[in-house]
Amino acid sequence: MTDPRPQVVRDPTLPEWVTIWEVGPRDGLQNEAAVVPVEVKAELVQRLVAAGLPVVEATSFVHPKWVPQLADAAELVDRLAAAGLLPGDVPLPVLVPNERGLDRALAAGVTHVAVFLSATESFARRNLNRGLDEQYAMVEPVMARARGAGLHVRAYLSMCFGDPWEGEVPAGQVVDAGRRLLDLGADQLSLGDTIGVATVGQVGALLAAFAEAGTGPELLALHFHDTYGQALANTVAGMRAGVTTFDASAGGLGGCPYAHSATGNLATEDLVWLLDGLGVQTGVDLAALVETSSWLAGHLDRPSPSRVVRALAG
Ligand code: HMG
Ligand code: MG
Repeated sequence: MTDPRPQVVRDPTLPEWVTIWEVGPRDGLQNEAAVVPVEVKAELVQRLVAAGLPVVEATSFVHPKWVPQLADAAELVDRLAAAGLLPGDVPLPVLVPNERGLDRALAAGVTHVAVFLSATESFARRNLNRGLDEQYAMVEPVMARARGAGLHVRAYLSMCFGDPWEGEVPAGQVVDAGRRLLDLGADQLSLGDTIGVATVGQVGALLAAFAEAGTGPELLALHFHDTYGQALANTVAGMRAGVTTFDASAGGLGGCPYAHSATGNLATEDLVWLLDGLGVQTGVDLAALVETSSWLAGHLDRPSPSRVVRALAG
């Protein structure tokens, strides 16, 4: 039997190349009940780089009491540097919520950071212990200092498609918040569907609202969680609107400890199968990725939620 792989039928209206921003070691592992040993995390990052992922978000310099799963951030970054991965050809961004987080990240020698804010008041309070406006006051100096130090700065905006406490989130509110982050100097804005409720029409409408306000798809990334199984369809909607960066998590791990209705991210394997079938280049070796997620599932002692991993794992 030949290796199962999708038959390629190219859609010329879609981009030729998509960048997959791998968030498994960060968004995936921040939500695991068990703390994964630091040497396993380091091997995970190494394996993902070896599988061809062009960006691997490695960890978070958040408060260790808020996210104990990633309390070993500095040690992990040290190990990645010792392994020759940092600095390296593949960016390994880390999350920094505030100046204290940036200080720790700079001391560790990172080159790419990501700040994260909420489009809604409820989640800003729960995730950052700050009000809607206070969260900008917290990240403004972080972004200024990070840019001054020559770092690449990504900004995440959460709850762009719905909020478990507030319900519907108006597109105008998301566009205003996102543009404020770009005005503060973010190199890229990742629009988060934190609880996985987005639908195809909504994705198109939000991207159209950004375009109308003067923000084109080249500055945007899409970050889908897959709670309702819509993430792949939403990805196609994003590509049709010109977006070429999509966040995904190896094996479909993930969630946010401060939004309990959040489940796993879009699985990187499911995304690669979709893109391979459409003839959209990613540079990712699907077989190596599946092997990595199966290996990690062994460490987590539970099967991967990814359909493609389950279909392809030996
Ligand atoms: P706070 O309690 O308000 O902190 O938490 P504070 O500013 O009042 O400081 C209190 C103490 O904590 C101080 O120590 C600080 O130095 C220390 P003291 O002076 O009392 O000895 N401290 C820190 N220590 C280490 N590292 C730090 C740090 N900051 C302060 N960075 C804070 C505010 C932002 C720190 C907290 O709310 C936090 O860490 N939140 C992070 C929550 C989180 O990580 N959530 C998951 C990531 S977001 C996500 O998953 C969504 C995303 O995937 C996109 C999507 O899906 O939508 C990105
Ligand atoms: Mg997320």
